[in-house]
Amino acid sequence: MRSYVDAKIEERRVAIEVGAEEAASAKDRVDLSLPGVVRPLGSRHLIRQVFQEIEDIFFSIGFSVVDGPEIETPYYNFEALNIPEFHPVRDDMDTFYLELPKGAPGLLLRTHTSPMQIRTMEKQKPPVRVIVPGRVYRRDNPDATHSFAFHQVEGLAVDTDITFCDFTGTIEYFVKQFFGPSVKTRFRPSYFPFTEPSVEFDVSCVFCGGNGTTSSGTCGKCKGAGWIELFGAGMVDPAVYGFVGYDPKKVTGFAFGIGIDRLAMLKYGIDDIQAFFQNDVRFLKQFP
Ligand code: DAH
Repeated sequence: MRSYVDAKIEERRVAIEVGAEEAASAKDRVDLSLPGVVRPLGSRHLIRQVFQEIEDIFFSIGFSVVDGPEIETPYYNFEALNIPEFHPVRDDMDTFYLELPKGAPGLLLRTHTSPMQIRTMEKQKPPVRVIVPGRVYRRDNPDATHSFAFHQVEGLAVDTDITFCDFTGTIEYFVKQFFGPSVKTRFRPSYFPFTEPSVEFDVSCVFCGGNGTTSSGTCGKCKGAGWIELFGAGMVDPAVYGFVGYDPKKVTGFAFGIGIDRLAMLKYGIDDIQAFFQNDVRFLKQFP
């Protein structure tokens, strides 16, 4: 009788042990059929996406991308671009100067990407075909269309036989690739110290199709003009070649400086430049 009871107890003990083990391993077992943890994916900032779009367009016609310092010397930001001290253009480019020890050479935050025209030509003999995406700074008070930091893409093409036609053809190609084939372009005479002649490029208003009116009346974006001012450009002023050791009798070229924030606002219908800098996820998510 006793051995019978012992055997029963043993049988029970083993059963409990095995059961406990099974229960424990069931608890630890990974259920491969469960869905994984989905981590939210970030995306590139809209400004970065627009840079990329522009780079791809210019890559396709033989341009390469260079970048350069955001802290510049007055020489590259102004003088070598044919903007001597006391030139009135300097007033339009309210500049951030760095606070430096007395006697140190002056430094500033670049007010445009144009200094890279000079740095590129100093380093490289023609032919030159580059674009320069980058951030620039001006002492502007922030509002819906101004920010103290914003973005530009500079372009420069210099060779022995570049004509005004190459220039307008290149710009038109870019604008149509970027905004679509139905957009119209025009240029108006303008002035920049480092280009001669200088022009301002306009596109037909992307909001009213160039009509100047929408179903609700005068188009608020182009104020009825049917055109929107896009960016400045021109044929490189021969004086600039003098600063980089190019022979102005042998080379010609064109340059342009595109404001990227404005371009992105036009293409994606954004009406406040500050949206680019606030990094509000609800805004960023709309441009995956
Ligand atoms: N650097 C000028 C600006 O920021 C824009 C510009 C105009 C650049 C004409 C160019 C150009 O290269 O040819 O206001």
